[in-house]
Amino acid sequence: MSTIAVIGTGYVGLVTGAWFAELGNYVTCVDILEEKVNQLRAGEMPFFEPGLAEMVARSAEAGRLRFTTSYTEAVPDADFVFITVDTPPAMNGKADMSRVESASRSVAQHLVGHTVIINKSTMPMGSGDFVAHTLKASAPKGVTYAVVSNPEFLREGAAVRDVMEPDRVVLGGTDAHAINAVAGLYAAMDVPIVRTDLQTAELIKYASNAMLATRVSFINEIAAICDVFGADVRVVAEGMGYDPRIGPLFLEAGIGFGGSCFPKDVKALAHMAKENNLHPQLLNSVLEINQSQRYRFVAKVEKYVGDLRGKRIAVWGLAFKQDTDDMREAPSIEIIEAMMTRGAQVRAYDPEASDTAKRAIRDLVTVSDPYEAVQGADALLLLTPWNEFKQADMARVVEYMHTPILLDGRNLYDRKQMQGLGFTYCGVGR
Ligand code: UGA
Repeated sequence: MSTIAVIGTGYVGLVTGAWFAELGNYVTCVDILEEKVNQLRAGEMPFFEPGLAEMVARSAEAGRLRFTTSYTEAVPDADFVFITVDTPPAMNGKADMSRVESASRSVAQHLVGHTVIINKSTMPMGSGDFVAHTLKASAPKGVTYAVVSNPEFLREGAAVRDVMEPDRVVLGGTDAHAINAVAGLYAAMDVPIVRTDLQTAELIKYASNAMLATRVSFINEIAAICDVFGADVRVVAEGMGYDPRIGPLFLEAGIGFGGSCFPKDVKALAHMAKENNLHPQLLNSVLEINQSQRYRFVAKVEKYVGDLRGKRIAVWGLAFKQDTDDMREAPSIEIIEAMMTRGAQVRAYDPEASDTAKRAIRDLVTVSDPYEAVQGADALLLLTPWNEFKQADMARVVEYMHTPILLDGRNLYDRKQMQGLGFTYCGVGR
């Protein structure tokens, strides 16, 4: 079993640390935020992620998972140090590497003997070398280290399952010995391992997210065409998905992708291409379609409800996707702000994201019951496809609403069934 330090307790760091501890390793997670560390020590999770609190508790109780603000407690004894701090987008779309830089510097100052440093954060091509240079500048004389890129592919809301059953492990670097050592950490799992150089590993991560985002924008463009011709995008996607060259996943039309990954990574990849005199036409279009998808939805609300001044708009779902309380780049933000600017009164409900949403949307009114949100409403906007909404008593919703108009931004409901209940129904591309 190995001793591991994980720097940064965001999604990637916390889930990775908890999983390696569950596999029997000794893991110390470092975060510079004292409050967050205290919270984690008390067993409280800094964000909502199904199954994570239980996984953390199991290893913490077994004494294999600790949290600290001190690099001294984590790095000197570690065989492996995972860097999992975030790389948020700067104004021009470029990934901001300042946290990676300061984490690398702090790691370097605490190295003892030989250590393998693993980049798990999504980092632009060339970052492996950047981390190696930062380490070189700050590491004490006599220590040795190798840098390996090991991008993470987990999804929020399904992170625990994804970390336990990854589709692949990607390892990039120049030191075959270090790559084999990191591969050893995954030995208990039956998973294909792609071994390559640093830049290729880094690009695999960006290209994967860009491909998935492209599929979402593609199907959203097809949905707009469906709207014009009266076709049903869900059936189009189903019919396409049986072709093994296409496959059925990530072809759900809706109000566009959000979250901390797709928008940031597609922008960063486009920026890297542009900086090197390429014209990333496809990536730019993916972002443009994603943006217009939100406005198209707002236009639909106006078409069905008319002048929004003084109208009561109920919103079900705020988070950028189901099973998370994450509001980063959530399409709900722009849609709700557009409702408010046009004079509507919005009342929103989300099973988990009310608090984070209030920080993201100024003056947002949230309620703690989905049926309270629809009382007297002129329209209901479904923005996140939580299971709770799928199972809701929609007959009751019709009764409570002033005008039963349902704008289904995620194609969650069956049109005929909703019309049968008395709704005026509008989906995306149906
Ligand atoms: C995404 C990738 O799926 C992960 O593999 C990757 O590790 C992660 O980014 C990351 O880079 O950290 P995540 O952002 O958690 O994961 O969520 P997804 O499930 O991929 O959904 C992203 C967005 O696309 C959501 O807003 C979702 O509602 C939307 N989406 C997804 C659609 O609109 N239609 C679809 O068919 C699928």
